[in-house]
Amino acid sequence: MAPPQDGKEAEVKEESVPQRPISNVVFIIAMKTEASPLVEKFQLTEESNSVFPKGVPWVRYSGKYKDLNINIVSPGKDIVLGVDSVGTVSASLLTYASIQALQPDLIINAGTVGGFKAKGACIGDVYLASDIAFHDRRIPVPVFDLYGVGTRQACSTPNLVMELNLKIGKLSTGDSLDMCPHDETAIIANDATVKDMEGAAVAYVADLLKTPAIFLKAVTDIVDGDRPTSEEFLENLVAVTAALDQAATRVVDFINGKNLSEL
Ligand code: ADE
Repeated sequence: MAPPQDGKEAEVKEESVPQRPISNVVFIIAMKTEASPLVEKFQLTEESNSVFPKGVPWVRYSGKYKDLNINIVSPGKDIVLGVDSVGTVSASLLTYASIQALQPDLIINAGTVGGFKAKGACIGDVYLASDIAFHDRRIPVPVFDLYGVGTRQACSTPNLVMELNLKIGKLSTGDSLDMCPHDETAIIANDATVKDMEGAAVAYVADLLKTPAIFLKAVTDIVDGDRPTSEEFLENLVAVTAALDQAATRVVDFINGKNLSEL
């Protein structure tokens, strides 16, 4: 995980990649509906002895799958309203706390996204994001404009991409499910194929704490189509989550026993 950089700095980063098999994987998943099938698939159990601060709604499931220690963390239910705590604020706090407590070798931010049919996205497609940026942090002041967009690159995984035949696209993140004209302009400027509500926040924190991260995202709705986003999202959420979980399992099976540099 790194912002775009010249070749020299990239070389230094490559050298610091540990040459041992990946052992600890942390999934960051915003919604319970998205997380539950994976919790079952990996036979994880909810940890009551929390590594998180007292009183937060964050949930952690953990267990062993093949040679991997797997944790799935979710921001849980909003304390006031009881709905899943989606969005960048919860995602960044949870990512920070999870890295501090669990020291993962790799973060997998898995979830659902809106896709752009103009960029080839279809309902049920699963994407691995190459680049991640914000589309709703507009700061029209030199250099602050780039800070607002906050582009980061996902951990490079050429072998994973080839082996699993996953679609690759850029991911754009904002705190709204819908898309206003300002957001649309920024998403197009980000050259994004998919949009979500957490990815760039996870990417920012992972980069800050030098933790490799990948972004696995399944398309529930077509943003540039003719259906209202919320309607299409809710209609497809459960079915598309099954596709996401299948892809996540294949990713984990591929990761098992490999070094980061082999991904
Ligand atoms: N998650 C699923 N669909 C989405 C959309 N259209 N925008 C943001 N996040 C999403």
